[in-house]
Amino acid sequence: MTGITKKFGDFTANDDINLTVHKGEVHALLGENGAGKTTLMNILYGLLPPTSGAIRINGKQLNIANPNIAIANGIGMVHQHFMLVDTFSVTENIVLGKEITKRFGILDLQTAEEKVISISEQYGLTVDPKALIQDLSVGSQQRVEILKTLYRGAQILIFDEPTAVLTPKEIQELVGIIRNLTAAGKSIIIITHKLNEIKQVADFCTIIRRGCHIDTVDVSNVSEEDLAAKMVGREVSFKVAKAKQEPGEKVLEIKKLCVEDSRGIVAVDNLDLELRKGEILGIAGVDGNGQSELIEALTGLRKVKSGSIEVLGRNITNLSPGKIINEHKVSHIPEDRQKRGLVFEFNVAENMVLETYSNPEFSKGFRLLWDKIYQNADNLIKKFDIRPERSDIEARALSGGNQQKMIIAREVANEPEVLIAAQPTRGLDVGAIEYVHKTLVAQRNEGRAVLLISFELDEVIHVSDRIAVIFEGKIVGILDAEGVDETQIGMLMAGGSA
Ligand SMILES: Nc1ncnc2c1ncn2[C@@H]1O[C@H](COP(=O)(O)OP(=O)(O)OP(=O)(O)O)[C@@H](O)[C@H]1O
Ligand SMILES: [Mg+2]
Repeated sequence: MTGITKKFGDFTANDDINLTVHKGEVHALLGENGAGKTTLMNILYGLLPPTSGAIRINGKQLNIANPNIAIANGIGMVHQHFMLVDTFSVTENIVLGKEITKRFGILDLQTAEEKVISISEQYGLTVDPKALIQDLSVGSQQRVEILKTLYRGAQILIFDEPTAVLTPKEIQELVGIIRNLTAAGKSIIIITHKLNEIKQVADFCTIIRRGCHIDTVDVSNVSEEDLAAKMVGREVSFKVAKAKQEPGEKVLEIKKLCVEDSRGIVAVDNLDLELRKGEILGIAGVDGNGQSELIEALTGLRKVKSGSIEVLGRNITNLSPGKIINEHKVSHIPEDRQKRGLVFEFNVAENMVLETYSNPEFSKGFRLLWDKIYQNADNLIKKFDIRPERSDIEARALSGGNQQKMIIAREVANEPEVLIAAQPTRGLDVGAIEYVHKTLVAQRNEGRAVLLISFELDEVIHVSDRIAVIFEGKIVGILDAEGVDETQIGMLMAGGSA
């Protein structure tokens, strides 16, 4: 890709970017949220036309006007949000649009299945070809997406933040798959915010900042700190500074809480937990041990089976989300920002008042005070460094990381008693992560109670004051974060005893 420029109106998302990828190489794309990584890859895959610039594959200049042309030229893309049909089988999804047919156009599922099995064995992409997509884990669904590109003959595979949604074990499996792919001569372009992953799998790394190409480096010659500094243009601190602080009065009290999951199976099992003012309590655990159901119960999004939840001594069990947010001041940074955090079609200013628009601050009778609503958004955009600095664009036009910043800004602005932060840094760049961690600590310093739920053990350890380990819906241990032993937490997370 040479001299790629992409403008959205008068905003330049890609500014004269060059990218060269060789056969059999893993090339990482690194850059802050909104730097223009996804845009560049969407151009390569034919989803967006570049404003100017040229793309050559094996020396041949191409006009990749749509994904079909990209696929025909051996380019495959695994998007961050999967594009599979839930009610179809694995094989049906893989062959969709490229079906093998018998006479009279009847789908030859048998032959298709054999082909899928042979590709999956070749690259170690274990998946049951007959399983329905809706029954598969996120990691398996991703393997289906990869198989789909290989089935169409991809030689260059683009992965947009493939590990953001994976568990640590699934990440290691993906690393193995990537090694198998490059061993077979495939080229990989991978977008990730995790510097350790770049060190682990990538040969080269291209760094983009605010739409511009900053550098392309041989990964073996640089440290994680070097990469971070190139990316944000300053030194980044990986540790979270926080002074010791005595927690205050009890804010949140959970007693003998039982919550069922959507299938009616016990997900939160007789759980007891207390949270005090001025502390960050981190919940560590492997995905699927009741974290989501716990958060949903606390925020009124899921009915509680038995037990109680109190905020400052007042019972909030099974109240509506609106009451819990506005009357009891429980704020929530949700784990799925696109489903539960914002409305794509609303602009930034509207999203900033989703929960509070009816407060006297923003409305008078039935009339919304638009001046105030925009002013509020403009303040938060400045304070939280949300890019681009515009309150009048639709939320969907913001990059993933900036969508997340927008939600965090809104929830913190509510001045909550309890701030529930679920995977608050998923998909964020290291500079933004530093910022979010500082924000959580600042909230704690101001005397708020923060509940942090994260699959990133490092994050839980660095940010929290106390750590509660959840396993099969129960708290199996509470530890002081300072000087905590990582292997001890790991043992508890796996259901062992510490
Ligand atoms: N359709 C669009 N209209 C207007 N602006 C857009 C559009 N698509 C992207 N942008 C802007 O272009 C910039 C680059 O976005 P892009 O999604 O490429 O970022 P990114 O590097 O992938 O970030 P992240 O790490 O957060 O995913 C962002 O500022 C974004 O708001
Ligand atoms: Mg992106």
